[in-house]
Amino acid sequence: MKALVYGGPGIRTWTDVPDPVIHEPTDVIVRIDSSTICGTDLHILKGDVPAVQPGTILGHEAVGTIEEIGSAVTTLAVGDRVLVSCITSCGRCRFCREAKYGLCTGGGGWIFGHLIDGLQAEYARVPFAETSVYKVPEGLSDEDVLFLADILPTAYEVGVLNGRLEPGDTLVVVGAGPIGLATIMTAKLFTPARIVAVDLADSRLEKAREFGADVVINNGREDAVAKVLELTDGLGADLAVEAVGVPDTFELCTSLIRPGGRVANVGVHGHSATLHLETLWIRDVTITTGLVDTSTTPKLLKLIEERRLDPRLFATHHFALADTEAAYDVFADAATTSALKVVLAAHPVELEPGALREPALAGV
Ligand SMILES: NC(=O)c1ccc[n+]([C@@H]2O[C@H](COP(=O)([O-])OP(=O)(O)OC[C@H]3O[C@@H](n4cnc5c(N)ncnc54)[C@H](O)[C@@H]3O)[C@@H](O)[C@H]2O)c1
Ligand SMILES: [Zn+2]
Ligand SMILES: [Zn+2]
Repeated sequence: MKALVYGGPGIRTWTDVPDPVIHEPTDVIVRIDSSTICGTDLHILKGDVPAVQPGTILGHEAVGTIEEIGSAVTTLAVGDRVLVSCITSCGRCRFCREAKYGLCTGGGGWIFGHLIDGLQAEYARVPFAETSVYKVPEGLSDEDVLFLADILPTAYEVGVLNGRLEPGDTLVVVGAGPIGLATIMTAKLFTPARIVAVDLADSRLEKAREFGADVVINNGREDAVAKVLELTDGLGADLAVEAVGVPDTFELCTSLIRPGGRVANVGVHGHSATLHLETLWIRDVTITTGLVDTSTTPKLLKLIEERRLDPRLFATHHFALADTEAAYDVFADAATTSALKVVLAAHPVELEPGALREPALAGV
């Protein structure tokens, strides 16, 4: 089969590799129908995630069809269409029993395109399949559910739920990439009074408006703290979600919140940030961190089925799976291409490769 193979920092090739085979009775083999690229894949290519060995197939988000099942698999069958999520659950360890699948100590957690071969491939071996994949309901397309593999549960669980967002809150989302935009989309389920988006890129702030931000701040030109204080009678936001992953934006989030406010950190950080306890100790703040568990995937799937959420808005570009290398170029150059998420489809796509999809109506 063909797959996108990591060759060490800066090197990725769509090339021939051996077909995956069943290793454990709990495995299934999935034919990949649709996959996508994550900002984390770009981090890996920069060499920021040394656990990824050269030779590993990248990718941790896909929708596929089961081709083969291990001898212990009884609740899935050949031909089932399934969402293969970024998080795998052994179903047995202490953390999986608490639905904290991201912390799985039984061989699951974030393993695809990290510790084992990933999903930017024609086929993939999926371990612990029965406790890890989700059957796709009839009537939903690959694109309806693909972004449930990572960005939607990440933003919802690590941003909105960890941040304990409530109706009437002022929410500031720092970073309006796919994760920040998914935070805006899922935050609206809780009817915040006001959503403020902060980013350095005007193109991303435009997207934030499309997704439902009421106020946008370019913190390259404007003082975000002053503007948020002005909006909140000098108090600050109830919740700030950090969706970038650099020290500056974490520190900014801790200055944006009111006394008793919350910071929910979603960004993956490669450097230490300063925690200003000299000003924060007296302010009753709560700061949370986390890796996505994907425990809310069934609930989010229900919301998509009922059209209360429309993740198709994230799909800005479409490619054939065989054109994954070109898709990486477009995705990595988001500043010029305005890419949010690229859809890699195994079946012939209706649109020209790389064609920009007209976003559907925002604010579902
Ligand atoms: N915790 C988890 O489980 C988890 C899961 C997936 C992704 N992530 C992380 O979430 C973060 C966001 O992911 P993404 O895919 O949206 O990334 P992205 O790079 O596409 O978006 C980041 C956005 O931040 C903006 N930005 C950069 N520097 C800024 C600054 N100083 N001030 C304001 N805005 C700034 C950029 O313009 C961009 O729009 C990343 O760190 C990613 O690794 C975390
Ligand atoms: Zn990811
Ligand atoms: Zn486990």
